[in-house]
Amino acid sequence: MSKNYIVAHAFLLILVSGLGVLGQQPMQTEMEALLLLKKFLVSQNSVNRGVYLGWNLEENRSSSPCTWMGISCDGNHITSIDLSKNNIAGTMFRNFSAFTNLSYLDLSNNYITDLSDDLKLCRSLRHLNLSRNMIEGEVNLTGMDKLEVLDLSNNRLREQPRFGDCENLKVLDLSMNYLTGKLSNESSIESCMELQIVDLSGNSIEGSLSFTFGRYRRFSMSSNKLSGNLPTWVFPKNCSLNVLDLCENNLTGEVPKNISNCKELMELNLWGNKFSGKIPDEVGFLSDLQSLILGDNNFLRDIPKSLPGLSNLTVLDLSKNNFGDDIQEIFGQFTKISYLILYGNTYTGGLHSSGILKLQNLSGLDLSYNNLSGPLPPEISQMLSLKVLALSSNRFSGNIPQEYGKFPRIQVLDLSFNELEGSIPASFGKLNSLLLLQLVMAEPCHNQLSGKIPAELAHIGKNATPTFMLNKFDGTKTTGLGDCASLTRWMPETTIAVLTSNSRNYCTQFWDIVQRGFGISPLCSDDGEVYGTPGYIQLSGNQLSGEIPGNISQISELGYLNLGNNRFSGKLPIEIGLFPSIQYLDISKNEFSGEIPMEVGNMKSLYFLDLAYNNFSGDIPNSMSKLTNLAQFNLSYNPLITGKVPSGQMTTFTKWSFLGLPLLQFQENGTPIAPPSELESEERAGSSFSGRHVFFISFPIFFILSFLYFSMFCDISKCCFRNTTICKT
Ligand SMILES: *[C@@H]1O[C@H](CO)[C@@H](O)[C@H](O)[C@H]1NC(C)=O
Ligand SMILES: *[C@@H]1O[C@H](CO)[C@@H](O)[C@H](O)[C@H]1NC(C)=O
Ligand SMILES: *[C@@H]1O[C@H](CO)[C@@H](O)[C@H](O)[C@H]1NC(C)=O
Ligand SMILES: *[C@@H]1O[C@H](CO)[C@@H](O)[C@H](O)[C@H]1NC(C)=O
Ligand SMILES: *[C@@H]1O[C@H](CO)[C@@H](O)[C@H](O)[C@H]1NC(C)=O
Ligand SMILES: *[C@@H]1O[C@H](CO)[C@@H](O)[C@H](O)[C@H]1NC(C)=O
Ligand SMILES: *[C@@H]1O[C@H](CO)[C@@H](O)[C@H](O)[C@H]1NC(C)=O
Ligand SMILES: *[C@@H]1O[C@H](CO)[C@@H](O)[C@H](O)[C@H]1NC(C)=O
Ligand SMILES: *[C@@H]1O[C@H](CO)[C@@H](O)[C@H](O)[C@H]1NC(C)=O
Ligand SMILES: *[C@@H]1O[C@H](CO)[C@@H](O)[C@H](O)[C@H]1NC(C)=O
Ligand SMILES: *[C@@H]1O[C@H](CO)[C@@H](O)[C@H](O)[C@H]1NC(C)=O
Ligand SMILES: *[C@@H]1O[C@H](CO)[C@@H](O)[C@H](O)[C@H]1NC(C)=O
Repeated sequence: MSKNYIVAHAFLLILVSGLGVLGQQPMQTEMEALLLLKKFLVSQNSVNRGVYLGWNLEENRSSSPCTWMGISCDGNHITSIDLSKNNIAGTMFRNFSAFTNLSYLDLSNNYITDLSDDLKLCRSLRHLNLSRNMIEGEVNLTGMDKLEVLDLSNNRLREQPRFGDCENLKVLDLSMNYLTGKLSNESSIESCMELQIVDLSGNSIEGSLSFTFGRYRRFSMSSNKLSGNLPTWVFPKNCSLNVLDLCENNLTGEVPKNISNCKELMELNLWGNKFSGKIPDEVGFLSDLQSLILGDNNFLRDIPKSLPGLSNLTVLDLSKNNFGDDIQEIFGQFTKISYLILYGNTYTGGLHSSGILKLQNLSGLDLSYNNLSGPLPPEISQMLSLKVLALSSNRFSGNIPQEYGKFPRIQVLDLSFNELEGSIPASFGKLNSLLLLQLVMAEPCHNQLSGKIPAELAHIGKNATPTFMLNKFDGTKTTGLGDCASLTRWMPETTIAVLTSNSRNYCTQFWDIVQRGFGISPLCSDDGEVYGTPGYIQLSGNQLSGEIPGNISQISELGYLNLGNNRFSGKLPIEIGLFPSIQYLDISKNEFSGEIPMEVGNMKSLYFLDLAYNNFSGDIPNSMSKLTNLAQFNLSYNPLITGKVPSGQMTTFTKWSFLGLPLLQFQENGTPIAPPSELESEERAGSSFSGRHVFFISFPIFFILSFLYFSMFCDISKCCFRNTTICKT
């Protein structure tokens, strides 16, 4: 609740006390009910408490409950209770109806398990927010006829709610539940005549569409199991849609021309269906359209001539439509768009002839997963607004042009899985905003990058803040690099399985987060504040050689560094211990030698460390016992390593982390520890994410899931908080 709000109510209170209204019967009763509510909440969670602890009659005998945190009043009634994120656990309070004039109730972000029938007796309730709880069971809203806003998103509902009298309902959010079946007409949202904003995404609702979108302003049913065609009548004459999101369903047939009835449409997302035929010319008549996302369908390759004329269009996603051949020339005419997403189309050419290299105002260009070849075009570096450039998984060859060090705003540069050779240009040190650099060339039969890491690389991402700030205030959703498939390229191997089971909307949300500078795995303090924006550098699978420059630790806030599978040699620089925020470090399969510097123990945030297949020698440093976050560790096949496995964290790893180390001593009753059955499953898990070598996961897989959880799925403004209710893994 904002300070202004409290001040306003304090003012109101003075007014009210002045009139001598305070102490009248209704307020007295409601104050008692509040104290019962407090008592109830305290009894429900004896460990963690919320602001209600401050609801205290003794201390503030003369004050009104209207000054209490989370409470607002109007006249002599309590009208609003906001206990969002207050560690409320278990069943719901059964006497909210004691607050006879309650119109606003926010219990979101708690651990509430059911809905109380008593809510139906709250006849004044207009706004009910129960989002992000663990509510199961039936929802019957009959009787709550004043309700205008209902948010039950991110719960565990299986049955579609019964609405009863919903004539005032305007906003309904049931996204991220387990709703199944067809949208039944008894519960039917259609009977809610005032409904304007509907979100049913992230459920398993099936069947074909049986109602029109006409009366809604925003309608989202992404990630369900809708099938069949879009009938022409879903877009009636008086359609007033602003946003339509049907992505990730199983819809087929053509997109009806009648879509032009929805003249106010700003966002259309049909990604991930089986639409076919021509993209209707009528889409080009939607003059307010800002975002057009038609990827992962089977559209024909003619793009309507009317589309480039849409002056508000900023995002165009036509990924994964099997276009093939040359990039269509028409894309060169989209001079006003910011994001052009064409990955996964098996294009073979047309990079120059299409004219897309002249789209100087592009912020994002994704041409990955195509079949483009020849040298990397230096012209791209003239796109001075470029923030995301993905050219990976093509057959580009030759050197990386020096000019690629000139992007003033670039944050994500992915040139991996091509046939590039030569060295990493020193000019990359000028990429002030770069947060993610991916240059993997893993196919051994193809060309690879070679040479040393230029010392200049240490300056990468040095001054990213201005770009991030710009993006934070810019407000436009980027859609970044499309779907989860392109995202998994970026993630540590361990996360792929989890990610691919998740929906596109999460993945695009992720890219949005990256562009706002929160990095791939935001660092959060205990109270959930994001304080770090760790960067990501992935150079594995090349033939890079020489020593790692000591100044590499100057790369600001590097979170992920993968140099594995190269030819690096020499000692690991002691500066490695200066990476305060590094979480993932893989230098396996190189030719590093000498002792492992004891400074390794200073990388307190490390959860993944792979040193396997090198020539390290000397004692395993005792400082490693300080790596208390380490969940995955591999030292195998450094046959000259001596000494004793340090106590503490290190002893939680089994022999799978220490293979081929004949001179190493184990702690008595230390490693290896796990029983055989567990080892087997670990081996399987290990080999599936790390290819040729085996990791032991010391913490349960839970650790990784929760790591992922807050790196991916939390609402970034409230990062690192709570349970897994929105992570349906
Ligand atoms: C609800 O609260 C009111 C006011 O405190 C009280 O009179 C009533 O008995 C309570 N009802 C239940 C079912 O607890
Ligand atoms: C008592 O009231 C004062 C102001 O009226 C407030 O600042 C204080 O936080 C209240 N104490 C509690 C425990 O609610
Ligand atoms: C409180 O609700 C009652 C009916 O439930 C109504 O008569 C009264 O006007 C309301 N009071 C306020 C201040 O809204
Ligand atoms: C409900 O609460 C959640 C979390 O506090 C918030 O993100 C969401 O916007 C709220 N819903 C509505 C409809 O206000
Ligand atoms: C829903 O609630 C109303 C009022 O409490 C009740 O009459 C009706 O039977 C309930 N419907 C179902 C299907 O439980
Ligand atoms: C619900 O649909 C069935 C057939 O699908 C129909 O017979 C029935 O009349 C509909 N009920 C309402 C209230 O529209
Ligand atoms: C749209 O038109 C239909 C009839 O053609 C009408 O029933 C409906 O109320 C209209 N909707 C709006 C939002 O005007
Ligand atoms: C849909 O468009 C067709 C022609 O394309 C037209 O005959 C029909 O009346 C339109 N329907 C609506 C509801 O606008
Ligand atoms: C999509 O529909 C096809 C038939 O049209 C069906 O075979 C397939 O299983 C459906 N896929 C999903 C994910 O529902
Ligand atoms: C673009 O959108 C603005 C409002 O955001 C609107 O006023 C304008 O008419 C739109 N442009 C066109 C060409 O319709
Ligand atoms: C690029 O954007 C600038 C400012 O937004 C604008 O003035 C310029 O005309 C745009 N260039 C093109 C080719 O559209
Ligand atoms: C890419 O091009 C190569 C050579 O022309 C061809 O063999 C391969 O099938 C193409 N791949 C795709 C996905 O089109």
